[in-house]
Amino acid sequence: MSRDHSISFFDTQFRSATSVASAGSSALNPFETLALPYLSGTVLDFGCGLGNLACAAARQGCRVTALDASAVAIDHLQRRAADEQLSVSATLADLRDYPISGSFDAVVAIGVLMFFDCTTAYRVLHELQSSTRPGGVAVVNVLIVGTTFMDMFVPNGGHCLFPSDELARRFAGWEILQAETHDFDAPHQTIKRFATLIARKPGGQG
Ligand SMILES: C[S@@+](CC[C@H](N)C(=O)[O-])C[C@H]1O[C@@H](n2cnc3c(N)ncnc32)[C@H](O)[C@@H]1O
Repeated sequence: MSRDHSISFFDTQFRSATSVASAGSSALNPFETLALPYLSGTVLDFGCGLGNLACAAARQGCRVTALDASAVAIDHLQRRAADEQLSVSATLADLRDYPISGSFDAVVAIGVLMFFDCTTAYRVLHELQSSTRPGGVAVVNVLIVGTTFMDMFVPNGGHCLFPSDELARRFAGWEILQAETHDFDAPHQTIKRFATLIARKPGGQG
C-alpha cells in the first residue's frame, strides 16, 4: 500500500459526500464546533477537508488559509467560497512537507497529523506552533493511544497514534483553554479516541 493511501481514502470519501445532496454535509463535526468560538483574524486550517470550518470561520469575519491534499475537497471548497464570496484561500498541498509561510492569529489542525508518521507529525506540529502568533490560538486534534480502530491508516508506520499526554507535553508553557477526549464507536465493535487541545501561545496582546 502506498504512503498516499490516506489521501486516496479521503478523496473517495469526499467524492461520494459531494456527489449526493446530503442535508448534513456542511454541519461542523464536534471538534470543529469546539474550535469555532476561538477563531478570529487570520486563520490557518491545516487539513481542512471539505472546508466546513473554514467557511464557518470566514462567515464570522476570519480570513482563512485552507490547505489539504484532497483535490476533491479543495475543488469543492474553492467553489463554495466563490459562491458565497467568503475570504477563504484554498490550496492543494501535501502537508507532510509544506513550508508554512507567515504567522496566523489561529492555527487549526483537526484530524490530520495522525496521518503522518510520528517523526513527521511532531515536526509539523512544531512548525504549526511556530506559525501561531504570540497571543494567538492553536487547535489540535489527534487520534490517541487506546484506539483499536486502524482501517483508514497505512499499515507499518504511515500513521501516528499520539500518546495520550503528548499534546499537553508539547504545549507546555501555553495557556490551555480546552483539553478534551472524545470516544466514538468504530467498525468491528472497536472505538476511536481523539484528544483535542486548544491553547493560547504566550506573549502578544492576548
Ligand atoms: C479526518 S479528515 C479531517 C478534515 C477536517 N479537518 C475535519 O475536521 O473535518 C483528514 C484530512 O486530512 C487530509 N490529509 C490526509 N493526509 C494528508 C496529507 N499528507 N497532506 C494533506 N492533507 C492530508 C485528508 O485529505 C482529510 O481532508
